[in-house]
Amino acid sequence: MVDLPKPRLRVGFVGSGFIAHFHLAAMVGVRNIDVTGVYSRSAENRNRLVAKVEQLGLGQCRAHESLESLFQADDVDAIWILSPNYTRLDVMRVLHKEVTAGRSKVFAVACEKPLARTVGEAREMLRLAQEAKLNHGYLENQVFCTPVLRGKEIIWRRAASTTGRPYLARAAEEHSGPHEPWFWQGDKQGGGVLSDMMCHSVEVGRHLLTAPGAPRSSLKLKTANGQVANLKWTRPHYADQLRERFGVDYRNRPSEDFARGTLTFEDEDGNALMVEASTSWAYVGAGLRIQLELLGPEYAMEFNSLSTGLKIFMSRQVTGSEGEDLVEKQNAEQGLMPVLEDEAGVYGYTDENRHMVECFRTGQTPLETFEDGLGVVEMLMGLYLSAETGRTVHFPAPELEDYVPVVARSTAER
Ligand SMILES: NC(=O)c1ccc[n+]([C@@H]2O[C@H](COP(=O)([O-])OP(=O)(O)OC[C@H]3O[C@@H](n4cnc5c(N)ncnc54)[C@H](OP(=O)(O)O)[C@@H]3O)[C@@H](O)[C@H]2O)c1
Repeated sequence: MVDLPKPRLRVGFVGSGFIAHFHLAAMVGVRNIDVTGVYSRSAENRNRLVAKVEQLGLGQCRAHESLESLFQADDVDAIWILSPNYTRLDVMRVLHKEVTAGRSKVFAVACEKPLARTVGEAREMLRLAQEAKLNHGYLENQVFCTPVLRGKEIIWRRAASTTGRPYLARAAEEHSGPHEPWFWQGDKQGGGVLSDMMCHSVEVGRHLLTAPGAPRSSLKLKTANGQVANLKWTRPHYADQLRERFGVDYRNRPSEDFARGTLTFEDEDGNALMVEASTSWAYVGAGLRIQLELLGPEYAMEFNSLSTGLKIFMSRQVTGSEGEDLVEKQNAEQGLMPVLEDEAGVYGYTDENRHMVECFRTGQTPLETFEDGLGVVEMLMGLYLSAETGRTVHFPAPELEDYVPVVARSTAER
């Protein structure tokens, strides 16, 4: 048994790529944390992360050459799983094995979105965490976006309390396409943009509609209706770009670059509630755009991540290299550009990490757990099945237990 509360939480990372570095940037704004270990396959990537931890003053971090070495380390309390979707279950199986064999003192685990590629995998992730008696957190940053924290609090305290609960949440997330080949490969990632980005939209929508402090089960999922399409990246010119940049065969093995979904819920009084979600890899604007709305009988909330207070104008005389220094998935370095001055904060990574660290350190259940991650995968699979069959899926939906989206199946299974 571990003695809680612990004065500080010592975190080990599995993965050292894009999101691992975003988490480090966020952790600068979190108390009571040290990043003490990292494992990923390449020594170069591991060492770059160790150097970044030192540069940010986040603790004494060691690079490990295997998962077992990281999990057995004396100075690691909790694991952050930040590796690609197709590695999740293997990582969790090794963690489970090391903890249940008594070789690891790790007592908590947090996992990036989506929790898994299918309902079956998500159930297995949850089972392994529970069986190893690990406290578990699902890393859905949009629930912790600063505008979501502030907007939800005001809407529910001032408006919903006097005029009735909100009934419609709209959530959209769009950018110009992911940065690594595996995101584009349906079998590795689990799908296309629907699984990659709609996982955010359905969960932040469900969260906005849930009364503060009420359990997720206070909303009952009733139906899922989804649609997927390829709007941009299957066009020959763009498919060829993907082959050149990433070696990805999107002409013959596309996933989807657009998805929309409608989920209906029922509250405890039988009122109908709705989440409308839309996601795309075919949006070319200044950069990543997150758009959120929460509507009720006498009020409305809205947020657009590109409507920033800070804007920079650069004339055509300004030249320089491409970068992502103004906004995530940036598409230009000239003209009038929005700038998010604290991306880690606005996107929710800082509050998400603060919350997970405090819950793990003090032995509380986080706001988002692997059970919520499983709930998200159920919603996503309902939307994929609906898109495949052209009909609305009604819950409970036992047919989702072993469902695999078309684009994630092998060629023979399609
Ligand atoms: N919350 C968000 O908005 C958000 C944004 C982006 C990504 N994500 C999620 O974060 C996860 C990682 O995405 P990413 O963008 O960081 O991808 P990425 O840039 O491709 O990085 C993946 C990392 O995992 C490591 N890795 C690969 N295979 C591994 C294995 N078998 N065991 C351990 N490490 C392994 C890679 O390093 P080596 O090559 O050295 O192994 C690399 O450091 C994904 O699940 C993604 O969905 C979330």
